[in-house]
Amino acid sequence: MKKNFKDLFNLEGKVAVVTGARRGMGRTHCFALADAGARVVVSDIDKKECEKVVEEVRERGGEAIAIECDVSKKEEVDAMIEKTKEEYEGVDILVNNAGVVDFKNFFELAEEDWDRIININLKGYFLCAQAAAEVMKEKGGGSIINIGSVAMGQSGIGFPNAVPYVTSKGGVAGMTEALAVDLAIYNIRVNLIAPGIIETPMIDPVKEDEEALKSLTEKLPLKRMGLPEEISAGVLFLASDASSYMTGSLMNIDGGWLAI
Ligand SMILES: NC(=O)c1ccc[n+]([C@@H]2O[C@H](COP(=O)([O-])OP(=O)(O)OC[C@H]3O[C@@H](n4cnc5c(N)ncnc54)[C@H](O)[C@@H]3O)[C@@H](O)[C@H]2O)c1
Repeated sequence: MKKNFKDLFNLEGKVAVVTGARRGMGRTHCFALADAGARVVVSDIDKKECEKVVEEVRERGGEAIAIECDVSKKEEVDAMIEKTKEEYEGVDILVNNAGVVDFKNFFELAEEDWDRIININLKGYFLCAQAAAEVMKEKGGGSIINIGSVAMGQSGIGFPNAVPYVTSKGGVAGMTEALAVDLAIYNIRVNLIAPGIIETPMIDPVKEDEEALKSLTEKLPLKRMGLPEEISAGVLFLASDASSYMTGSLMNIDGGWLAI
């Protein structure tokens, strides 16, 4: 590796697909990847909202397009990757970020609640990884970044009333390792980021209970919630050649939560 270290983060000539990109962390992942030179596909269930993010990327001097896609539907995922190929001639980076949470007592969970969360958070990651890896394989390599969570089971933290969510994130952790092993031969790296508590619309229900939120953040070594951009910095590292010897790895970005 004879590159200047600052060139390691350069993504010029690369194409990145970000799912769940209309808001929250997905939106800032688009900014990070575009700032580093990648052409970005802003993908989510609402095209109009994606277009707004595309506009923001362009205002920063980057290049992006919006593609509507529900990650839980195979035909929509395949069409999204096909359109990416048509517009940008390939896919080099996939950020599996789309996700939903629903805080519900275990005994009140309906089968539909389980199916919805597992289909988006787990099956959706599989469908996107499979469709994107097919294209990466043709191109000679790529990087898949899965967004998990510190709440993925066996991590030492309790996350009440979120059985399907925690199950889905545990599945994503397993999928990351298994895919890393299967795809290394194609020069496709697969890594996992586990965010702690990050200030996005997803945690609005948590914010409603100010006392509970305060007692959680106060026990974190860094004493605050994370910002979406602080996760995007990790995405940028895993997307780029700076992480060329990493696959199947877990990166916790959690303000020290798991260090307690
Ligand atoms: N915010 C946190 O504290 C936190 C912590 C750990 C992990 N995460 C994970 O980070 C990721 C991003 O979450 P966020 O916090 O930015 O939340 P968010 O709710 O702001 O963003 C999630 C995005 O996923 C999209 N989405 C939902 N269903 C979809 C579907 N079927 N197809 C495509 N897109 C869909 C939503 O439209 C939304 O834009 C998620 O995977 C989440 O589980 C969040």
